[in-house]
Amino acid sequence: MANYPELKDRVALITGAAQGIGAETARLFAAQGCRVAVVDIDAGNGEKVAAAIRDGGGNARLFRTDITDASSVETCIAGIAQAFGGLDIVINCAGGYGRLATVEDMPIDEWDRTVALNLRSVFLICKAAIPLLKKSKAGRIINVSSISGRTVHAASSPAYGAAKAGVTQLTRFLAFQLGPDNITANAIAPITTLTPRVAALRTEADIERIAAQVPLRRLAVPEDHAQAMLFLASDAAALHQWRRARRQRRPGDDVEDLRNRTAPSAPSHLPAPHRPVSHLVMHRRPPAVPWRLRRCRICATNVPAHPRPPRRAAPKPSISAAP
Ligand SMILES: NC(=O)c1ccc[n+]([C@@H]2O[C@H](COP(=O)([O-])OP(=O)(O)OC[C@H]3O[C@@H](n4cnc5c(N)ncnc54)[C@H](O)[C@@H]3O)[C@@H](O)[C@H]2O)c1
Repeated sequence: MANYPELKDRVALITGAAQGIGAETARLFAAQGCRVAVVDIDAGNGEKVAAAIRDGGGNARLFRTDITDASSVETCIAGIAQAFGGLDIVINCAGGYGRLATVEDMPIDEWDRTVALNLRSVFLICKAAIPLLKKSKAGRIINVSSISGRTVHAASSPAYGAAKAGVTQLTRFLAFQLGPDNITANAIAPITTLTPRVAALRTEADIERIAAQVPLRRLAVPEDHAQAMLFLASDAAALHQWRRARRQRRPGDDVEDLRNRTAPSAPSHLPAPHRPVSHLVMHRRPPAVPWRLRRCRICATNVPAHPRPPRRAAPKPSISAAP
């Protein structure tokens, strides 16, 4: 098993830690010396996980929380700050759905509940935890999304898939906005994983069929994901950031700065104002006085371009006096 001594004494909040992937993650983080906040609505199983960690010599405490409820989440974060004196790692693992469904047969309240559990909860936990993470020397946010948020590969729940796609995009925002505070944000997107919930939801034939689509010909087990999250929380992943948000926001970055930035791929032989600008910048900055239309190389629409600065006259060759 990988060993990350730097994780000793760091405080890790893990939602959905009463069972499945969350419980295995809590055990693995505690084994590395983390102080673990087991956050779950299921107090019975949550306490069993926390007690087992303590019995093994680790440090864990249950915070019974409904992560879809803002005031419950605030109480939880305040309790963690009081009990552990801070927070370094947030793992948003709780989630899931109750049944396979189609858009047509999904009642509206099932949609709302599923989106609240899988997406609203991540926002609520992050929003409440960010002030504490900013005080950490190595803040980490790890969100558990799903393959269902990236593709439709098997019968699933549309509310679940849509919410998990939202988790992915929310993670990009977190990475982009919190980079300057030395907080990384990443998401993992597990394939079907053999947890008690999945075993109850899928038939054996289902499980065999899904496993046959996986290159390694097996479903994941909770430890596979827990090990990946351990790496993402470690110092070895200090620069590991959600890939689309790798360009870290810099102090002073604002919309104005974004507007004035030229595309990194711009040919360097052209002087700066003449470099082609990125799609984003091109469409975001309508000039005060449109000069002419330019064709966007990416979406092929015509957009008002900016006036070119006056050409500098080429220096006249100096005629040196004959000696
Ligand atoms: N198991 C899979 O096949 C699979 C695949 C892809 C993604 N995932 C994702 O991985 C994560 C964990 O999955 P799992 O199979 O281990 O789940 P699980 O159902 O075994 O555990 C979910 C935990 O979340 C808790 N929970 C539910 N509602 C809550 C609430 N309102 N407040 C607080 N806690 C609440 C439950 O009590 C439970 O302990 C989920 O986000 C899931 O969407 C799982």
